[in-house]
Amino acid sequence: MKKLIIAIDGPSGAGKGTVARTLSEHLGYRHVDTGAMYRAVAWKATQEGLPLDNEDAVAALSRRADIVVEGGIVSIDGHDVSRTIRTPEMDKAAAAVARLPRVRETLVARQRTLGEGGGVVMEGRDIGTVVFPQADVKIYLDASEEERARRRLNDAAHTGGKAGQAAVAESIAARDRSDKTRTASPLTLAADAEYIDTTGMPIEQVVQTVLEAVQRKLLHP
Ligand code: DC
Repeated sequence: MKKLIIAIDGPSGAGKGTVARTLSEHLGYRHVDTGAMYRAVAWKATQEGLPLDNEDAVAALSRRADIVVEGGIVSIDGHDVSRTIRTPEMDKAAAAVARLPRVRETLVARQRTLGEGGGVVMEGRDIGTVVFPQADVKIYLDASEEERARRRLNDAAHTGGKAGQAAVAESIAARDRSDKTRTASPLTLAADAEYIDTTGMPIEQVVQTVLEAVQRKLLHP
């Protein structure tokens, strides 16, 4: 059976992580969380004291870094950063790094290498538009800002957040603005993506909807 490339895009807190992970387990596909790659670069740049708007320096760092995102573990140059990249500070730092075109160029090239053979569920912001415009299945997950803030607050993997729902909502709104308005590959809905508004939908139902889209593609390639 053909091994598909499945692209899952959408804003933070829309459920991409859970859906992509569950789907990849179900299909026996590799799960690639591309946001974790931007976060890992942001972490390393911060460790090295680089200003996050210094494109030359951050791009050079991203080119030489050894980044592994596999099985829920994220590491950069041998450091396991799976937990340390999920803090409010790293939310901001990753959004800053993701604005830099030359960092994107490097990471997009790596993402293509990881996914080109198929059998991959790749989640991010530009997977269906830039990384794999020819992806077999393109899903865009969305949810209201309030719901996304609520999910982020309940996300045990996201540490360091003692802020209330209003502060989380504001931080999500700021990142949405940054991700949607940047010049380099802003978050947009691909014309051929299936748009799913997950507001009020149990996650199992979201997974089921996406699985049905995948099965349709497998039956009618
Ligand atoms: O999905 P996430 O919150 O872990 O992503 C971290 C940041 O990286 C976020 O600001 C969006 C950005 N990003 C991106 O620009 N392109 C991707 N393919 C994935 C994430």
